[in-house]
Amino acid sequence: MTTSAQATSRVLPPLRIGPLEVDTPVVLAPMAGITNAAFRRLCREHGGGLYVAEMVTSRALVERTPESLRIIHHDPDETPRSVQVYGVDPATIGAAVRMLVEEDRADHIDMNFGCPVPKVTRKGGGAVLPWKRDLFRNIVRAAVREASRRDIPVTVKMRKGIDDDHLTYLDAGRMAEREGAAAVALHARTAAEYYSGTADWTAIARLKEAVTTIPVLGNGDIWAAEDALTMVEQTGCDGVVVGRGCQGRPWLFADLQAAFEGRADRVQPGLRVVADTIYRHGELMVRFFGDDEQKAMREIRKHMAWYLKGYPVGGDLRRSLGLVETLAQLRELLDSLPLDEPYPGAAAEGARGRQGTPKRPACPDGWLDTQEITPDLEERLREAELSVSGG
Ligand SMILES: Cc1cc2nc3c(=O)[nH]c(=O)nc-3n(C[C@H](O)[C@H](O)[C@H](O)COP(=O)(O)O)c2cc1C
Repeated sequence: MTTSAQATSRVLPPLRIGPLEVDTPVVLAPMAGITNAAFRRLCREHGGGLYVAEMVTSRALVERTPESLRIIHHDPDETPRSVQVYGVDPATIGAAVRMLVEEDRADHIDMNFGCPVPKVTRKGGGAVLPWKRDLFRNIVRAAVREASRRDIPVTVKMRKGIDDDHLTYLDAGRMAEREGAAAVALHARTAAEYYSGTADWTAIARLKEAVTTIPVLGNGDIWAAEDALTMVEQTGCDGVVVGRGCQGRPWLFADLQAAFEGRADRVQPGLRVVADTIYRHGELMVRFFGDDEQKAMREIRKHMAWYLKGYPVGGDLRRSLGLVETLAQLRELLDSLPLDEPYPGAAAEGARGRQGTPKRPACPDGWLDTQEITPDLEERLREAELSVSGG
């Protein structure tokens, strides 16, 4: 329920993504290996928003690989059900979206045009794809055509371009708008920048000027709720997409909701709450991986350093947690933490997660020579469709 006092202090109106109305204009960024149903549950318990699954490749989905079906799994109470699809071939993308829609497996479909990892860009996918304008348009068109049969909104997530000499985001944003995308999100870095340096929020402002009829979402370097407010203020974006900032900090979504409702309260957990959250995350992962405790523990290990960032936990204990093998062992190790330690303040805040150094993006041979796409290249891309998920 929204009281009039709340309504007047709201920073932004609800985010409208096609027929969906998202009260808190916040999106959990899709993150391969991170944003599975278990982590999404932890995050969405803290605040409102749209919580996107890890990317799934269109080929794997069409082939119904067990891993791809796991990636698109949503808990029964999760709504809206959001899925992110990656691919380089319009026909395969169309088939994947048709499957999602006809089988009622998603309420929102995001398209990945932002991934900078060589495995993906080498095949012409992710962040280097919008350079091929016709191919980009045909992919968005195929996805929108299939999704619109059931009024499922399709959104586009992209980077600024390949590098500073090959910027694509303004063109791609306008094209996506024309093709019926319901929103566009910009991670304000080029593929060449990878995750280095700082995101260029001025590009988000420029995209907002260029794309006028659908929401423009800003992404990059939101580490705290205050950053989200600053991004909105500086760029005029309609909502924010948050990735690394919530790694080991699912309560960031409570802060974001508070901030967008004009409230100053922030979650500052002591170590006991952090330990309980880690354990709960572990339990949810075990359930998510069909009781495969070993697999779940392998996955939870990578979250450990994020959860404990800034808390006074000794090296030995950190190392043991990073090697945890069973839930029982996890409980035991967490119980031996100095649980009465309060929130450490600044040490727990700021940048976290993947950083990396700038690198020249790997592209298919001759990719940068022209923005045109030939039938031969299209055929090669189709062959190269990744059949693995994640990445
Ligand atoms: C571990 C990891 C996995 C990612 N996987 C995906 C993905 O599957 N799809 C995608 O569009 N972006 C992916 N990204 C990019 C994020 O969605 C986001 O755009 C990026 O991290 C910048 O936002 P941030 O500064 O808030 O982290 C990934 C990022 C990280 C760190």
